[in-house]
Amino acid sequence: MPQHVQGVIAPGRNEPVRVETIVIPDPGPGEAVVRIQACGVCHTDLHYKQGGINDDFPFLLGHEAAGTVESVGEGVTDVAPGDYVILNWRAVCGQCRACRRGRPWYCFDTHNAKQRMTLLDGTELSPALGIGAFAEKTLVAAGQCTKVDPAVAPEIAGLLGCGVMAGIGAAINTGNVSRGDTVAVIGCGGVGDAAIVGARLAGAAKIIAVDIDERKLAKAKEMGATDTVDSRAGDPVEAIRALTGGFGADVVIEAVGRPETYRQAFYARDLAGTVVLVGVPTPEMKLELPLLDVFGRGGALKSSWYGDCLPSRDFPMLIDLHRQGRIDLGAFVTETIALDEIEKAFARMHEGDVLRSVVVL
Ligand code: APR
Ligand code: ZN
Ligand code: ZN
Repeated sequence: MPQHVQGVIAPGRNEPVRVETIVIPDPGPGEAVVRIQACGVCHTDLHYKQGGINDDFPFLLGHEAAGTVESVGEGVTDVAPGDYVILNWRAVCGQCRACRRGRPWYCFDTHNAKQRMTLLDGTELSPALGIGAFAEKTLVAAGQCTKVDPAVAPEIAGLLGCGVMAGIGAAINTGNVSRGDTVAVIGCGGVGDAAIVGARLAGAAKIIAVDIDERKLAKAKEMGATDTVDSRAGDPVEAIRALTGGFGADVVIEAVGRPETYRQAFYARDLAGTVVLVGVPTPEMKLELPLLDVFGRGGALKSSWYGDCLPSRDFPMLIDLHRQGRIDLGAFVTETIALDEIEKAFARMHEGDVLRSVVVL
């Protein structure tokens, strides 16, 4: 029997989000219905609302979530009712050219539930990133559920489903930060701070946090930055070089997603160093660099998609490290809110004093 639950939809471009009754079908083959316990508010949810992702309104927002599997469809063997899971937007297919070459963290053919959730009048909803978790329950592909230790509270665990994983993965997966490396992180929001946590976990000797907001720099220090640079106070490239013996950092992680910060990252790294772009640019942005510098400085210019994570490998591992006290994922939760407070959370994003607002259901 299809179920009726409360969920938050974005009805149209820039229209305020609202709580609506959502119809959840029974899970079909390969699908699962998950009872959501917590879901973080991410910039991507705001971009959906603004029409910045695509025009497939109405959206069922929310995608950084943890909850409990309620029911599964035919053929589902990896998860069972009662399992505590983090939802992911990289359900690997096992068949595409990336998967076949043993690189499933790049999977080019990830999948979502085949059936659609709807409004009461039958209008089909587009779930954000194929998840749609600002709702009491949601329908996903079973491969989007990653089982983890239930000892970690859902408002903390769920954050691994998007931004925190993207940042940690940018450092440990994409950037391959290793013991003794010098690392600079440009932009210290939730993603940049997670990159700092990842760099610290990997044994970086120096972690330089760069931002334009001193509150963000203070928080970055709490998260493990060894040095901070306020890029309003002077050239951040010079400052990073000065902190690294005049050479630049081994790995620079760009967590803003703008041409000017990318250029800073490019020049703030040592010869043969690595730039990791994890901030997401917008379509009109252009980058111009002397090609000779691209050649002459060597190294690697990489992008990090979702922290190049493999959820089945990385989520349980990071949950265990959190339980052991080796990383503190709880530090990312600024506030917990109710389902009808998401507009307020969007407004607070711009004030700069929130890493994550998390809806608790
Ligand atoms: N130089 C340095 N820091 C900057 C600059 C700049 N020119 N411009 C903005 N910042 C800082 C902001 O002060 C803020 O601390 O970058 C940080 C961005 O953080 P958030 O807005 O909280 O964004 P976050 O969730 O961390 O995501 C960062 O990754 O997923 C993408 O779309 C997301 O592109 C965004 C990026
Ligand atoms: Zn694949
Ligand atoms: Zn997100």
